[in-house]
Amino acid sequence: MAEFALPKNSKIQPGKHYPAKDAKKPRTFRVYRWSPDDGENPRIDTYEVDLAACGPMVLDALLKIKNEIDPTLTLRRSCREGICGSCAMNIDGTNTLACTCAIADAGKGGGDVKIYPLPHMPVVKDLVPDLTHFYAQFASIKPWIRTQSPAPDRERLQSPEERKKLDGLYECILCACCSTSCPSYWWNGDKYLGPAILLQAYRWIVDSRDEATGERLDDLEDPFKLYRCHTIMNCTRTCPKGLNPAKAIAEIKKLMVERRSA
Ligand code: SF4
Ligand code: SF4
Ligand code: FES
Repeated sequence: MAEFALPKNSKIQPGKHYPAKDAKKPRTFRVYRWSPDDGENPRIDTYEVDLAACGPMVLDALLKIKNEIDPTLTLRRSCREGICGSCAMNIDGTNTLACTCAIADAGKGGGDVKIYPLPHMPVVKDLVPDLTHFYAQFASIKPWIRTQSPAPDRERLQSPEERKKLDGLYECILCACCSTSCPSYWWNGDKYLGPAILLQAYRWIVDSRDEATGERLDDLEDPFKLYRCHTIMNCTRTCPKGLNPAKAIAEIKKLMVERRSA
């Protein structure tokens, strides 16, 4: 097993070590552990998992650890196929979804796999971040169609071209990987909406059926909510769904300029 060193002065302690007995294909996972009930500093527990009896994804390894080695390990997951966003975490320094991250690609080609919760968020326990503020920010952009015109007899229609404008936006699963990789969100997340929520805001701004574009832009015209984005692009690099929140933010800024000069 490779030597493991925490940074000097780190408050995180080395934790327990769970060796794999008679493993045909052992692989080491170093997992962040912290519980508000322990009254202790966070620690890194080390688990050896037999990959010969484990599914291919990092989530498979975490569930094997939870089911067979240490039931106290706490994490979120639901769909196991990259749709619900609940298994977002930091794997080897990258925010991603544990259920779509292959063990073979983690740990720099065979090394230890290091797993932490999403960065710069309060931790509920172990790998579970507290997303209360993130969801409140999502609610603040009013993520639904707002209209003043009378409801038609049937649905509000969209042309194929209008519908196409939502591609690259509607696929967002609100996993928060992008926002928690954004330095501006780390430092100003109390007021800056961050890339995930701004991509969602843009999704409703460009929806041809929505009739509140002006109000939506008014709400974002704020030194903190929108303009804390400095185009660092971490968000776009990390999105596990291959979306481009930085572009969505740039499009909102462009609309702001256009309406000022109109
Ligand atoms: S834009 Fe991508 S990274 Fe950000 S919340 Fe949506 S799916 Fe997750
Ligand atoms: S482009 Fe903007 S939102 Fe994306 S990481 Fe950079 S500062 Fe954050
Ligand atoms: S479990 Fe749903 S996205 Fe990973």
